Amino acid sequence: PNTPLIDRFGRVHTSLRVSVTDRCNIRCFYCMPLENVRFKPRDELLTFEEITRVVRVAAGHGVNKLRLTGGEPLVRSNLGQLIRLLKEVPGIQEIALTTNGILLPDQATALKSAGLDRLNVSLDAISEQIFERITRRQGVQKVLNGIAAAQAAGFSNIRLNAVAIQNLTECEIVPLANFARENDLHLRFIEFMPLDADRAWDKSQVISGRQLREIISREVAPLLDVDGQDQSQPAVDYRYADGRQRVGFINSVTEPFCGACNRLRITAEGQLRNCLFGTEEWDARQVLRDDGTDTGLSELLNACVQAKKPSHGIDSPEFIPPERAMYQIGG
Ligand code: GTP
Ligand code: 5AD
Ligand code: SF4
Repeated sequence: PNTPLIDRFGRVHTSLRVSVTDRCNIRCFYCMPLENVRFKPRDELLTFEEITRVVRVAAGHGVNKLRLTGGEPLVRSNLGQLIRLLKEVPGIQEIALTTNGILLPDQATALKSAGLDRLNVSLDAISEQIFERITRRQGVQKVLNGIAAAQAAGFSNIRLNAVAIQNLTECEIVPLANFARENDLHLRFIEFMPLDADRAWDKSQVISGRQLREIISREVAPLLDVDGQDQSQPAVDYRYADGRQRVGFINSVTEPFCGACNRLRITAEGQLRNCLFGTEEWDARQVLRDDGTDTGLSELLNACVQAKKPSHGIDSPEFIPPERAMYQIGG
């Protein structure tokens, strides 16, 4: 087997987040512009065969977990076919997907039968009015139906992702927690990160994980620590004292988990990235389309990993947000 992907700080990279499209069927303000979105033309996106080839090479270097992202991954047609191809790659132990849930009522069953292992659904608000202010589209009921459809299709341990935003989602925090508990979902609150297309992010809009935890433990149920958590997963989880579910906090801004990061990313057009906030990309598509060898892809993966910085540095005065917004990177 090939060498593992270990960076200069000793972090071993075993997880690859694969964006399959930059398109989306909603317009969350923290991720996409409202109008004139410049999507990549179809021929610039990696084909399923190209994605599978990169994954096979990465798996040879110890990558064992994949997460499909977007944009919204379910708008890429025939995604089940990609999942089937990826399932065949030796070394891949888990394939997960992060979705906004809108298309789950139509696709949950097909995703399950294609072999998808796990689902995370983004839902920041239960009230249609707040949902619309965030996503600039209607559709909360579709997402709720989508979650139910996924459960009916046999997905368990579904996670809910809720970005928390000051002066906007406060009134959703407790209802989301109750909804998650009632439906056996593992809710995780996410701190708003500077990855919005409009560059309007300001630290004053972040509700910290600590504040969120205080609200939950005061208004929903007391929280207990969870021992032995996987440090490379972004959330710090707590158990509700009454035993009904867990809740997690992804404190990417106030308490970054960069020290334990095990992730690499590839954008929909085949650019490798070593960090959400990275400023450099490595062009896997060019290697693929120039008849490059697997060795060429291996070298590219290694170069990407070796250039990884110790942390994102959001708090540093020199911090500049990446050129791409969230939908162009893939979450
Ligand atoms: P699991 O732990 O496997 O459930 O997935 P995940 O939490 O890694 O993936 P998901 O796509 O659900 O992401 C949840 C939130 O964590 C999103 O806001 C992501 O942008 C954020 N996130 C995921 N990976 C990273 C990362 O490497 N760095 C930072 N700063 N945030 C991340
Ligand atoms: N800050 C934090 N989380 C974000 N997401 C998208 N944009 C941002 C941002 N600027 C979340 C989505 C989804 C996950 C992939 O990333 O809500 O749950
Ligand atoms: Fe990893 Fe970058 Fe996220 Fe930090 S910010 S956890 S280094 S991807």
